[in-house]
Amino acid sequence: MTHTAANPMKAIILFDSKTAGGSTEHLIDSIGLELAKTGAYVEKARCKTTGDYSFIKDFDVVIMGAPIYYLLVSSNLLGALLQSNLKKYLTGKKVALFLTCGSPELMANLLYLPQLKLNLVDNTILAEKIFAPDQLSDRTIIEKFVRELNESFRQK
Ligand SMILES: Cc1cc2nc3c(=O)[nH]c(=O)nc-3n(C[C@H](O)[C@H](O)[C@H](O)COP(=O)(O)O)c2cc1C
Repeated sequence: MTHTAANPMKAIILFDSKTAGGSTEHLIDSIGLELAKTGAYVEKARCKTTGDYSFIKDFDVVIMGAPIYYLLVSSNLLGALLQSNLKKYLTGKKVALFLTCGSPELMANLLYLPQLKLNLVDNTILAEKIFAPDQLSDRTIIEKFVRELNESFRQK
């Protein structure tokens, strides 16, 4: 299907964070605004381990993002992937991933991203990014993530 102004890409950002209004939520708002500038329709929803994720049927792209706490992806997003119907409704979906954390990118790529990717082996991953603390408000880096997501969406 061609996504035009009349038929925009619909993206949902599923996120988790223990910090209300924290760095992850600010980043999500920046990513959402940047994506909306490209014409996409964007919503965000906070994850719950036992939530009902049937609503993601209505979206073309599912963007998942969370911080790392004590070496693990924040528990509601990881828990939702392991225990709820999220994985069922992710079948055939295009996804994008990002994490916020304090570790160096190499360590985060090795230790943290696989926690999500192991649950998404059948999905097309459009973009993935570890956001270090100094990148959370970096417009250039956020724009690059959104551009990569958009370009991959059109190609795949
Ligand atoms: C209690 C706590 C534990 C953390 N543990 C880790 C960790 O194990 N590895 C890491 O890279 N960053 C860790 N961090 C850093 C957070 O992942 C990072 O600051 C993130 O941006 C916090 O997001 P938030 O503001 O939405 O809570 C930790 C932060 C907190 C507060």
